[in-house]
Amino acid sequence: MKNDLAKVLISQEEIQKRVSELGAQISADYVEKEPILVCILKGASIFYADLCRAIPIPMNMDFMAVSSYGNRTKSSGEVEIRKDLSGPIDGRHVIIVEDIVDSGFTLSYLSRVLSNRGAASVRICTLLDKPERRAPGITIKADYFGFTIGNEFVVGYGLDYAEKYRNLPFIGVLKPEIYENN
Ligand code: IMP
Ligand code: MG
Repeated sequence: MKNDLAKVLISQEEIQKRVSELGAQISADYVEKEPILVCILKGASIFYADLCRAIPIPMNMDFMAVSSYGNRTKSSGEVEIRKDLSGPIDGRHVIIVEDIVDSGFTLSYLSRVLSNRGAASVRICTLLDKPERRAPGITIKADYFGFTIGNEFVVGYGLDYAEKYRNLPFIGVLKPEIYENN
């Protein structure tokens, strides 16, 4: 797998340090609120598992899956819920945990949907943010984010290309020739 990478962008140690900081920040902000952390499958799964363990206050876990890029490296702008939450969220404080904000379509759709279900609050926690790539008209901003990155396609620590590379323990940049032929 490593041969498919141009470089390591964020090391395992850097990720670990930043995830601890995010966990501490969220814990301080949500004392006595018992938030629901919603993991957006599959990309956020590894980040989510580490983040939850960095949060020492009471919290609940739930999971959603939405349509994503498939094997392509650009977003279509369409979002579809493939797996929904297991319970209601009215009156609850929700934190959506995502791997990366790219065009912003996924998160602007999801935060609207979850707010409309009567959540007391909806915030976004993303590991990575690619602000340069935001689609026109999308104003979504992450309340908590790990790292801001440039316009590069990254894999690892949950992020995939064509369902591969999610199990790399760090974030790497894929060699363009891996996806250029698609
Ligand atoms: P958005 O709706 O365009 O913001 O897309 C977000 C989704 O696209 C993420 O949840 C990822 O699954 C995927 N994505 C965007 N950029 C990358 C990347 O660099 N590597 C892997 N997946 C990405
Ligand atoms: Mg994906």
